[in-house]
Amino acid sequence: MNIDHIPRPLYIAHRGVCARYPENTLAAFRGAIDAGAHMIELDVTLSKDRRLVVIHDETVDRTTNGQGAVNALTLTRLQQLDAGSWFDSRFAGERLPTLAQVLDAVKGHLWVNIEIKPEAFEKEGPIDAVERQVCDLVVAKRMRDAVLISSFEWRVLERLRLLDARIAIGLLSEGPADEHLGYWQKRLGAFSWHPDYRVLTRPQVDAVHAMGAWVFPYAVNGRIDTRGLLAMGVDGLITDDPDQMRVA
Ligand code: G3P
Ligand code: CA
Repeated sequence: MNIDHIPRPLYIAHRGVCARYPENTLAAFRGAIDAGAHMIELDVTLSKDRRLVVIHDETVDRTTNGQGAVNALTLTRLQQLDAGSWFDSRFAGERLPTLAQVLDAVKGHLWVNIEIKPEAFEKEGPIDAVERQVCDLVVAKRMRDAVLISSFEWRVLERLRLLDARIAIGLLSEGPADEHLGYWQKRLGAFSWHPDYRVLTRPQVDAVHAMGAWVFPYAVNGRIDTRGLLAMGVDGLITDDPDQMRVA
């Protein structure tokens, strides 16, 4: 699977198929394969013992039966938590996966958009910094051509680019495309821009295409928004339910 040959429009399952499964669990990522998504999106951060764990929030409170900050809990403790029951009792026993476990589960089936959470960024850039661990793992799994790494913290992406000149990078932002985006797109040779779909306009899509990057808005749900965004010329959609998008 090579990121340069992805189809359009690309359906990217947000946190797995998080409309139908507990987000960021192996069940949600397997669900994305079953749903025929082209790519999964997931969130990665560091545990207390500096392991790569897949979870969206800074705490485990919302998506597990535990409490506390993710970076205050060891991976062993994090993986003892039930990450499925909060969503539906059918998913009791689902665990918070490591990034390695997710990559193993989906390799060869679909592309992976790894979002590095901003809170995992460390200015001093230690030897086991989150971006270095992600990069090393992706290379070790021989999945360099199957991943797209994004973050709202563009300094983490800058570090990543220094580590690997070719790995695909996605610039995440809440605001519209502007000169700042243009500067960073060029500086990092970013593959794509991932904006909040609510700020997107056709001129912005055109401007980012002119920069040479693809546009993958998040998190798009519902037929009206889907049709509108596809008509604007976006290249893919980060969505909670790829099944629903397909019939738009
Ligand atoms: O990567 C797109 C989207 O996931 C960013 O927002 O809060 O769902 O991580 P969030
Ligand atoms: Ca995310």
